[in-house]
Parts: sequence; C-alpha cells; structure tokens
Amino acid sequence: MEVKTSLLDNMIGVGDMVLLEPLNEDSFIVNLRNRFDHNEIYTYIGSVVISMNPYRSLPIYTPQKVEEYRNRNFYELSPHIYALADEAYRSLRDQDKDQCILITGESGAGKTEASKLVMSYVAAVCGKGQEVNKVKEQLLQSNPVLEAFGNAKTMRNDNSSRFGKYMDIEFDFKGDPLGGVISNYLLEKSRVCKQPRGERNFHIFYQLLSGASDDTLMKLKLDRDFSKYNYLSLDSANVNGLDDAASFRTVRNAMQIVGFMEAEVQSVLELVAAVLKLGNIEFKPESRVNGFDESRVKDKNDLKEMCELLGIEQSVLERAFSYRTVEAKMEKMSTTLNVAQAYYARDALAKNLYSRLFSWLVTRINESIKAQAKTRHKVMGVLDIYGFEIFEDNSFEQFIINYCNEKLQQIFIELTLREEQEEYIREDIEWTNIEYFNNAIICDLIENNQNGILAMLDEECLRPGTVTDDTFLDKLNTICAEHQHFESRLNKNSKFLTDHSLPHSCFRIQHYAGKVLYRVEGFVDKNNDLLYRDLSQAMYKATHSLMRQLFPEGNPAKVNLKRPPTAGFQFKASVGVLMKNLQTKNPNYIRCIKPNDKKVAHIFTDSLVCHQVRYLGLVENVRVRRAGYAFRQPYESCLERYKMLCKKTWPHWRGPARDGVEVLLTDCSVPTEEFAYGRSKIFIRNPRTLFTLEERRRACLEDLATLIQKIYRGWKSRTHFLLLKKSQVVVAAWYRRYAQQNKYQKIKSATLVMQSFVRGWKARNILRQLKYEKRCKEAVTTIAAYWHGTQVRREYRKFFRANAGKKIYDFTIQRIMQKYFLGLKTTTMSPMDNTWPAKPYGFLEGAHTQLRRIFHLWRCKKYRGQFTEEKKAVYEEKLEASEIFKDKKALYPSSVSQPFKGDYLEIQKNPKYQKLNSAMEEKVLLADLVNKINRANGKGSPRLFLLTKSNFVLADQKTGQVKASVPLPDLASVSVSTQSDGFFALKLKEGSASASKGDFLLSSEHLIEIITKLHRIGTTAADRDQINIDISDEFLVQFKQDKVCVKFIQGGPKNGNSAACKRKNNRLLEVSVPSP
Ligand SMILES: Nc1ncnc2c1ncn2[C@@H]1O[C@H](COP(=O)(O)OP(=O)(O)O)[C@@H](O)[C@H]1O
Ligand SMILES: [Mg+2]
Repeated sequence: MEVKTSLLDNMIGVGDMVLLEPLNEDSFIVNLRNRFDHNEIYTYIGSVVISMNPYRSLPIYTPQKVEEYRNRNFYELSPHIYALADEAYRSLRDQDKDQCILITGESGAGKTEASKLVMSYVAAVCGKGQEVNKVKEQLLQSNPVLEAFGNAKTMRNDNSSRFGKYMDIEFDFKGDPLGGVISNYLLEKSRVCKQPRGERNFHIFYQLLSGASDDTLMKLKLDRDFSKYNYLSLDSANVNGLDDAASFRTVRNAMQIVGFMEAEVQSVLELVAAVLKLGNIEFKPESRVNGFDESRVKDKNDLKEMCELLGIEQSVLERAFSYRTVEAKMEKMSTTLNVAQAYYARDALAKNLYSRLFSWLVTRINESIKAQAKTRHKVMGVLDIYGFEIFEDNSFEQFIINYCNEKLQQIFIELTLREEQEEYIREDIEWTNIEYFNNAIICDLIENNQNGILAMLDEECLRPGTVTDDTFLDKLNTICAEHQHFESRLNKNSKFLTDHSLPHSCFRIQHYAGKVLYRVEGFVDKNNDLLYRDLSQAMYKATHSLMRQLFPEGNPAKVNLKRPPTAGFQFKASVGVLMKNLQTKNPNYIRCIKPNDKKVAHIFTDSLVCHQVRYLGLVENVRVRRAGYAFRQPYESCLERYKMLCKKTWPHWRGPARDGVEVLLTDCSVPTEEFAYGRSKIFIRNPRTLFTLEERRRACLEDLATLIQKIYRGWKSRTHFLLLKKSQVVVAAWYRRYAQQNKYQKIKSATLVMQSFVRGWKARNILRQLKYEKRCKEAVTTIAAYWHGTQVRREYRKFFRANAGKKIYDFTIQRIMQKYFLGLKTTTMSPMDNTWPAKPYGFLEGAHTQLRRIFHLWRCKKYRGQFTEEKKAVYEEKLEASEIFKDKKALYPSSVSQPFKGDYLEIQKNPKYQKLNSAMEEKVLLADLVNKINRANGKGSPRLFLLTKSNFVLADQKTGQVKASVPLPDLASVSVSTQSDGFFALKLKEGSASASKGDFLLSSEHLIEIITKLHRIGTTAADRDQINIDISDEFLVQFKQDKVCVKFIQGGPKNGNSAACKRKNNRLLEVSVPSP
C-alpha cells in the first residue's frame, strides 16, 4: 500500500509560509531560523521555493533523493528544490508548457548552486541514451567554462558570478534534452583592471598561472608568479578551498567536452595572457613644445610580448597609446594623449578585450550546444542573475543590476498575480481584489524613454559640449524632482536639503527592496564605454585569429561615425528581450537567502536575513498569496487527509470527492465564509482553519490509533490465548502418550530381564554339560595322538638321516639343470650362428657338446623345412658344385656366395636373341657369354653358350647365328685346371658326329655353374653316362687335326685379374693364372 504523505507531516515550523500564523516579519524569520537550525534549508511560499545557503554540503542531493522526489506531487514531500525542478520538468513534458526557473537573491545566497542543482536534477530524470547523454554532458560542462571566465572571488562569495546568465534548455516531445542557448548579461568588466580590497580578478587568470604546464606558460610568455602582474590583486591571490591548478584542468577538460578545438583553446589562452601583459604596460610623460605632456610607453618589453602574442605591429599599438585620431566633419585630426589618458585607453582596451572574449566564449558554447533537430521543442529557461546589491559605494554597475532586479520583481508580481487570478478563474471562484505594492513606478523612473534615468544618461553622453557626471546629476535633479522614489540633496523637494545621509554628488532611489544611494561619479564614462578608434583599428589589424571577430568596428572599410549604443541602452534592450521571453513561460521561483556574511555554516544572522526577506518582498509575497484564499488543495487529497473527522466519510466515502468534502466540512461545522468550492480544489481562506482541521485530525488520529491499538491488542491476546489452548491440548496428548510409552517400556524391559536370567541360567547349565563332554573327547584324542606319535617316531627314527642327503642332492641337481636349460634359451635359430653358451659345470661337458650338435642339426632341419622346390633345386646344385669342386679347384670358394642364375643373357626377353631362342627346341637351362679360345694365337673370341637338357650350343654373339650345336651324349668329358681361372675344355667322344669339329676350349666367368649344370644333366639323364670331369693343370685338347696341350702356370705378378692364354708353340698353349 502506498503511504500518502503530505507537506504537513513531520513539519519543522511550517513548510509553507502561507500557513504561517500570525503572519508578520518576525514570525517569518523565526520560522526560517527554526527550519534552518534543523537543516531544513528549503521552505515554500505556495509554489515559490525559499532556499537558505547552508554553506556546507548536506546529504540531500543524493541519487536516492532524486528518486524520492521523482514524479511526486509538489506538496507531497518536505520542501525541496527537487520538488520544484520535478514540477517544472513534468509540466513541460506532460502539459507542453514552456518553463522558466527564476533564481534571485544576493551575491553568495546560492543562486548559481541552485541553478546547477536544477540542471542536474533534470539531467538525472530526463531520458537516457548515448546521444542524449552527450547533450546533457555538454550542457552541464558549459558551467565550469563560464565560471572560470565569469566568476571571481568577492567579499561575499568565493565563487561569485560576475555576469548574468540565462540558459534555455530545449527538449523534444519525449522530454529528452536536445540542446540549449545561453545568454549572458553585463559582465562586470571593471574587475579586469581593478579589484576591491580582498577580492580577486576573474578565476581564469589565477588558474592559468597555477595550472598551465611550464611549456604552455613559456609559449604564452607568462610567469607563474602572480606578483609580476599589475592586474592581479595579491592580497587574496590564494583562496582557501580553491585549487586553481585543479580547476584549470577541469576547465580544459570541460572545454574539450563542450567541443572547443585545441587551437581555439590556445587562442583563448593567448588573449588571457595578452590582457595580463597589457596591464603591465606603463607610461611616462614626455614634455612637448606646446607645454603639454605626451605619454610614452615606459618599458617596451611587455608591449612587445603582447604584440607578439596577438600578432600586432608594435609601432601601431605604441602610437595608439600616444595619439588619438578625432574625426569631425570628414576631417581627421590627431591629438596627443597624456599619461592619464593613456592609462585610461589601456584599461579600456583590457576591459573590452576581456569582455568581448567572454561574449565570444558564450557564442562559441552556444554553437556547440545548439539543438540539432529542427522539430518543435519545449524550453526550460534557467535564470541565474546577480541579485539586488546595496553597497556602501554604489555605482553604475549596481544601478544597472538593481534595475534588472526591479524588472524581475515586476515580472514576479505580474506572473504570481496572474497565476493566482488564472487559478481562481479556472476554479470558478469569485475574484477578490488583492492589495500589493506594484513597483512598475520604479521601473518607469529608470527606463522611461523620455525622462527615465537611463534615457537622460544617454542624452548626456551624446550631447555635444562638456559633459561630466555633475551635469548629469543636475539634469536628474531637475527632471526627476517630483518623482516620489527619487531623492537628491539638490532636489526641489526641500525635505532632503538637510538630509546629511545624502551627499551632494549622489542620488538615492527607493527601490522596492530598499533605498540605495548611488554615487554619480563614473556614470557617464561607464555608460559611454569608450574605446578609442585607433585602438580598435590596431586590434583589427592583428593577425591573431580571434581579434578580427572581437573588434569588427576596427575595420577601416566600415568607419562608422555614429557612436556605438551605450552600455545602459544595450542593457535595457537585452533586459527587455529577457522579460518578454520570460513572460511567455510558466515561471518557477527560487529565492535564495544568505544566512550570514561570514560564509560559514550554522550561523543565522537575523538582521541580515531580515534585510533580504524585506527586499525580496517575501512577506509581501505571502500576503499576496493569502489575500484570497491561503490554502487550496484538490478535493481528493483533502478528503483523503481529513476523512476521519466525520463518521460519514470514514473509513470510505463512496461518491464524488467534492461531495465528500462538503459533507465533511459541514459536519465539522466550519463557517461557510472560511472556504470556497472550486472546480477541482477546495479553497480555505484562513490558515487558522486549516490548522484547526489539522489539530482535529491529529486528535482524531490519536483516537484512531488508540482504537486500532485496542482492537489490535484484543485480537492479539485472543489469538495468543487460542494458540495457548490449542498448544495445551497438543502438549497434553503428547505427554500422555509419552508416559504410557514409558510405562510399557519399563514392563517390557523387566520381562526381558527376567526372561534372560532364566534363559541364561538354563543355557549355562547346558553349556557346562557340553563343555565337560568336549573336554573328555579332547583328552582322549590328545592321548591317542601322543601315543601314535611316540610309536611312529620310534619306528622312523633310523631312516631319517640316511634319506635326507639324497633328497637334498636330487633337489640341488634338479635346480642346477633347470638353471642350465633356461640359460640355453637365448640361442638364435640361424644355422649360421655359431655361438653357444660356455659350459657352466665340468660334469656337463659331454651333454653340452651333444646338445649343441643336436640343436644345430635340429635348427638346420627347421631351416631346410622352409625351402620351396626351386630353392631346394638351387641348393642341390650348389651342393653338387661343392662335391665336384670343393678343395679341388681354387676358383670354387669365390663361387659359393654367387647364386646360380642360369640365364645370364635373358634370352627369353631380349629381342636380339629371339631368333636364337626360337631355334632352341628345349628349355634353355643356361645361357652365358663365353670366350672361345683360338688355338692359333690363344686369344678368345666371344660366343653365346646355351645349354639345354640334350645339347649345348655355341652361337655368334652379334648375329645370334648358331655356330655349333652338340648333343650332350657326344660329350665325353670336361677338363678344368685346379686354379682360379675360368678355362674349360669340352671334349667330344671320338667317332661321334660332332667330333669332326674338334674339342672346344672356352673360358667363362661362370665356370663352376656351367660345369655343375653339365654334370647334373649327366646325372639325371638315364640314357647317358656320367660326364667325366678332369681337374688337372695340364690336359690335351683335340683341335680338328692336332692335339694341343693346355698348361696352367701360376703367373707372376698380377696383370689384371684374368688369366691370359698364350700360344707357346704348335702343341702348347700356356695359361698363366694370377696368383691369388
Ligand atoms: N545548496 C547548497 N549546499 C551547500 N553549499 C551551498 C549551497 N548553495 C550555496 N552554497 C555555498 O555557497 C557558495 C555561494 O553560492 P553561489 O551559488 O555561488 O552564490 P550566488 O550565485 O548566489 O552568488 C557556494 O560556493 C557554496 O559553497
Ligand atoms: Mg552566482
């Protein structure tokens, strides 16, 4: 359930001054003080918020507070600036009404802080999103920049705004901020050149010098030391609680966020530096022939540096400080300036330079923050303008400022009254005329176009002839004499002639907020705000990027002899525009009050507050508000709040709220003249009536509270009793059950005990019996076992030792053998492997060698078992070769490792031998290239040698033509030497068919294979005899006719590898074989 609260709850004093009873200045101040002492710095006058400066940070601006006040009714919670901001924002967003927030109060009263609070509240509650946040950030960050350039420490405020500021924040239909426009009013530029004691120049000068890097300062030709600059007051250069260096960083950062380019920031700083330099330029008199003094620049160094910063030709500026061109009737004349005039010119330049820079900054910020979208937007304006100023010494500035406040008061009165009136009409209530002081007459005294003070000042300024402040005062004295708010010593009105509080050179105005004495000195000059044309032209010529924009009147092409508008005129115009603007908007007022002059917390100076309350016209304000009906409230909330006062409306009223309120008020017998029924609100004339209602409500609430308490207590006790009763039954039931259970358990356990005793006793008896029997049996067994043991031991004792030795021996031998056999396991299965473990024991020698042999035979058998038929044949051939040649011919060992290939010519495949191959009738067993030895010279000629099962063939190596084919049965024997040569002779059987050709003496590299194959064919053929193989170093060969002896000798030194055959004589061929 939502708790309905009201401003009237938990009030300290009264939260709304309209309800103050009795209403007078004293009670007003006592109420303010009472609230201020309880940290309640905000108080309402209807919808106006009075804000007391607490001079310390209070925990009332937290995000939680923002949430608390968000979307709440204005009078629902205790007074707060957030309530006002929320009201303004919601009525802007939901009712499409442009708003303005007018913040007034004297310097240091907290106007600027209040404006920031309003802006931050609106920023916190309005829409979110990247684009929107950027806009918000830029709007908020414009503050630090303007504060650095437009604020200064004054006696009244360490961060006093020295310019008026009006900022329009623009929103779209959803209430998201789009951008803003800032207008500035009258910067107090005299501060640039001179500051009152204890005050400072604008913050930026100190911030630049303390915060800029050494590098920047060097570029700007500046020195960190404040004391080097004439324009900076030294007595309060450092202010407690102000960190200029940190502020400088904040300002630079803010400028960046707002959108200043780096180059622009640099230009701005250059101008600030130039102002400082300008202040250091000094002049000395130089006598002229005509007796007048002419001013000259004393030390040209500062002038030079300044000219460098701004890009001005030094001589031009120097001249502008010594001469002045006067133009009259198209004629130009040059007059000299004396030292005082030169200083005046210098200061005028500095002031203009700075104030124009400030205006440029505002324009530049506006460029950045202006709303992009062209759609229609709603506007919330925040006005933070200097408050009413009454000093000891009031001059032109105070006059202007107070005029502005006069205008604001005017609009305040108009708008409050108008609003009041509008509400009465809206609510259909009869309008009662309200008496109040209208300050329009004072506004008229100042701004009237014919005889207003400003108009006369302008007239004086523009008038030819000698014009002084005194002539201006004279004029005032004659023209305003009759005005009841104007006072002067020389007035026609004789009552002031003796008024000593009114000096001769002053006039006094009775402002709505009090009398202010203005010293007339300087009015004319300040209104003129003259800058010699030579200076503006010099500035226009500068190469610095900003100067041309700041001094457009210096453009020689646009020489304008007309005077520029005066300061007063300009101000009046801009205030006029502002007022028009404000009148179109729904106003919301924040009136700031300063509790003390010491800028400290907790002190409330009555006289000071009283003064402010008076000149802000606050009591007046309450009176106006109360003149008709002091208090008004929608019917719903009124009924909700007071319904308990009448039985008919309590606790619920069913029907329209208005009827409910009527019933209620009649029932309470409130006099009928005390209230009026509007359309949606009830209007109560007197606060007293409201307080009576409140008092009755309080009493009634007490009764109600008692009633509620009574019923609640009764209900609580009864429920408690019922609960106790119910619990008692439960407890009793549980207890009974528990007791019975206990009793049963006891009986049960007693029975068990008895049972167990009896059973135990019986069991023990049986056990005893059984134990006895068992022991008897055991005794018998033991005795028998012992007896048997003795018998057996007696019998076997004699065998025991004799058998042990053999068993140990057997066992040992067995172990040794086992180990030995396991040791043999590592031997490989290759027949070539000759290794065999060494014998471990002498006694195993025989077995060891036998085992080796048996194992070898076995593995050879295994090896042979793997052979295929072909491989077997190959080995058989090899075996045969071994039988024939082993140990008989020296060539043999080298042939062992060469496999017998048979067909070395690849006769089947080689196309060269195709014909030869086809001539062969049987399978060729061997085909090789051999040398046929010529008997005549012992040289060999190559032949193809082919062997089949039935014959051998010699063929030409080149042509493959068969030279000789000899059937094997015709072959008688084969002769070879014992040596390592390849010669062999094939001897034919005498008388056979082939014998006519004679024997063949051949040599071959595969001699062993050829002979073996020949021999093998002989062995396998059944129809033939064995072929004889003679192995000797000398044998005969039958060549056709002759027998020739072939003799083999061991050759001497080797010449090549092969054996050489030489014919020795007709009957002898000698073959020399190289010794191996
Ligand atoms: N609501 C506030 N809470 C805390 N301090 C405040 C508040 N309002 C003002 N102050 C203090 O008072 C000083 C002056 O306020 P400022 O707004 O600058 O005055 P004004 O603009 O009216 O001259 C601030 O610097 C701040 O220290
Ligand atoms: Mg301020």
